[in-house]
Amino acid sequence: MYRSHTCGALSINNLNQKVTLSGWIQKIRDKGFVSWIDLRDRYGVTQLVFDTERTPESLLKTVQNLGREYVIQISGTVIERESKNPNIPTGEIEVLVANLTVLNTAKTPPFTIEDKTDGGEDLRMKYRYLDIRRNPVKQNLIFRSQVAIAVRNYLSGQGFIEVETPYLIKSTPEGARDFVVPSRMNEGQFYALPQSPQTFKQLLMVAGMDKYFQIVRCFRDEDLRADRQPEFTQIDCEMAFVTQEDILETFEGLTKHILHHTKGITVEKFPRITYADAIKKYGNDKPDIRFGMAFGELNALAQGKGFQVFDNQELIVGIAAPGLADYTRKEIDALIDWVKRPQVGAGGLVWVRYNHDGTFKSSVDKFFNEETLLAWAQALQAQPGDLLLVMAGSADKTRSQLSALRMELANRLGLRKADTFAPLWVTDFPLLEWDEESKRYHAMHHPFTSPKPDDMHLLDTDPGKVRANAYDLVLNGNEIGGGSIRIHDKKTQQKMFSLLGFSDAQAKAQFGFLMDAFEYGAPPHGGIAFGFDRLVAILGGQETIRDFIAFPKNNAGRDVMIDAPSTIAQEQLEELHINLTKSED
Ligand code: AMO
Repeated sequence: MYRSHTCGALSINNLNQKVTLSGWIQKIRDKGFVSWIDLRDRYGVTQLVFDTERTPESLLKTVQNLGREYVIQISGTVIERESKNPNIPTGEIEVLVANLTVLNTAKTPPFTIEDKTDGGEDLRMKYRYLDIRRNPVKQNLIFRSQVAIAVRNYLSGQGFIEVETPYLIKSTPEGARDFVVPSRMNEGQFYALPQSPQTFKQLLMVAGMDKYFQIVRCFRDEDLRADRQPEFTQIDCEMAFVTQEDILETFEGLTKHILHHTKGITVEKFPRITYADAIKKYGNDKPDIRFGMAFGELNALAQGKGFQVFDNQELIVGIAAPGLADYTRKEIDALIDWVKRPQVGAGGLVWVRYNHDGTFKSSVDKFFNEETLLAWAQALQAQPGDLLLVMAGSADKTRSQLSALRMELANRLGLRKADTFAPLWVTDFPLLEWDEESKRYHAMHHPFTSPKPDDMHLLDTDPGKVRANAYDLVLNGNEIGGGSIRIHDKKTQQKMFSLLGFSDAQAKAQFGFLMDAFEYGAPPHGGIAFGFDRLVAILGGQETIRDFIAFPKNNAGRDVMIDAPSTIAQEQLEELHINLTKSED
C-alpha cells in the first residue's frame, strides 16, 4: 500500500494516528536539530517533521540526501504542530516520520514549483508536466473537468445523446484553413481534420437522433491569439424540430446550470441584442456588458457648428468615461496618444470635461457652447464628473476604434471584474459578409445557416442585407458560443452555395453528401457550439485559454515539449506518396 491518506486529507481529527503518505518533496527546511519537509500531491501539502530527539539517526542521514521533487513514501504519526498555518487544511498538524522510502529521485526542476514561479512561458511549456504540478495550472485542469461533468449532467438530463463523429473527414468550411492528413492507401488524396463536426451533426438530425451533443476536439489552421488554439474543444450540440427560441432557451439553461454548479452563481434571464444594435451601441459584436459606457451618436448635435473636423464625417460618436472629469491634460493627452497608436489607428479624440458643478470644459469650446455640450452629455447619458470622449470618421472604423477605447478605459477603471458574469445573446447576424480581397460574399457563420424567412426575398436583389437565424453567446466580452438554425432543404442550400461562389459541380463535389441527405427527409434543425476552452477560462476569471489546456501549443503552433511539428522519415514520406524534393524550375 503506497498510502493510507492523501497529502490533503489529514487534520487535527487524525491526531496520534499512524499514517502512510506518498508524494513529491515541495520544500526542505533544515534547522540542524529539526527539519521539515513539505510533501505534496494533487490533493494538498502535508508537513513532515524529523528531529534529533525522536528520529532515528539513519533516517536523519537519509533526509540529508533528499532533494526537491524527489518522490518519497513515509509512514509516521500525526502530531499537533507548534506553529499552525491557518491557510491550508492540513495546517494544524504534521507527521512525525518513522520510516521513509525514496521511490524516485529527481533532477532539480528548471523552475520553482510554486504558485508564483520564476519559470518563463517557454520553459513552463517545455516542462509542462512540472508546470501542471503547480497549483494554478492543476486547479484549472480540475476546474475544466468539473465544467465538463456539469455539461454532461445537464445535457443528458435534457435527453441529449453524446455521439462521436470522425476526425478523418473531408474539409468543412468554417472560415479557417484545414489541417490535412495524407492517405497512404489512396495515393494523392487527403483527409481533413474537422474544423467542427458541423455536417455530421446535421446528418445525425437527418438520422433522427433528435438531440445530439459532443465534447469534441476541433482543428483550425489559423493565426493564434490568447483565445485561440489550433486544436481546441467545443461543446457541440444540435436539435431537431426546434426554432431559434427553443435553442436559446435550452442553452441559456445549460449556461445557467454551469454557472450555478461550478461557481455557485445564479444569473437571471440573459439579455438579448441584435447584431445591428450591438454594433451601434458598443461598436462590437461581442460587447462586454459588465459596465456601461454605451455609445451615443452626436451627428445632429455636432455638425454644422463650424467645427470642420466633424462636418463631413459619416459618424460622430462618443462615450462618457465615468468619474474621469478630473483627468489632467497630461492624462487626456496620453489617452489621445493611445487611440492614435497604429493598433487603434484613430485620428484623434475630442474631449469634454463634465465638471462636478455641472459646467463644461472641452477641447472644442470655441465651437460648441455649454448648451450644446449639455445636449452631448445627455446623449451619452453622462453624469457630472464624467469625461466625454468623442470620435469622428467613417462609421465602421470609428465604431471599432471607440470600442477599443471603451475596453481600455474599462480595464483602467477596473470595471472588467473577473468574478462578475454578464452573459448576452447577440442575434440576427448578417447571413453574408462581403470580402473585398476575393470580391465575393463569405458566409458570416457558415454556409449551412438559414436566412431569416422575412429576408428571403432579398437573397437575389440585395444579399448583403439578408439577416440570418444565427446567434452568438457572449460572456464578459468574449464570444463563447455560436450557432444557427440550418437550411434543411436542398434548394435553399444550393442557392446559398451559389451565392458563395460555388459552381454546381463544386458544391456537388464538396457537399453532395449533405444535399443528398436533404432529399431523404431532413427535419428542421439547428444548434450551437460553445468554445469549451474559452468558457472554462472565462469562468476561471481569465481570457487566455492556454493555462486551461493540459498540453497547449505556443504562438507558433508548436508543442515545444514533444517538439511537434517535426520532420518524418523518408520511408514514411514514400509510403504516403509525398515527394519533398523541390522541382528545379
Ligand atoms: P464557431 O466557428 O462560431 O461555430 O465556433 C464555436 C465556438 O468555438 C470557439 N472557437 C475557438 N476556441 C479556441 N480556439 C479557436 N481557434 C476557436 N475557434 C472557435 C469560439 C466559438 O464561439 N459549427 C459551428 C457551430 C454551430 O453552428 O453549431 C461552429 O463551429 O468560442
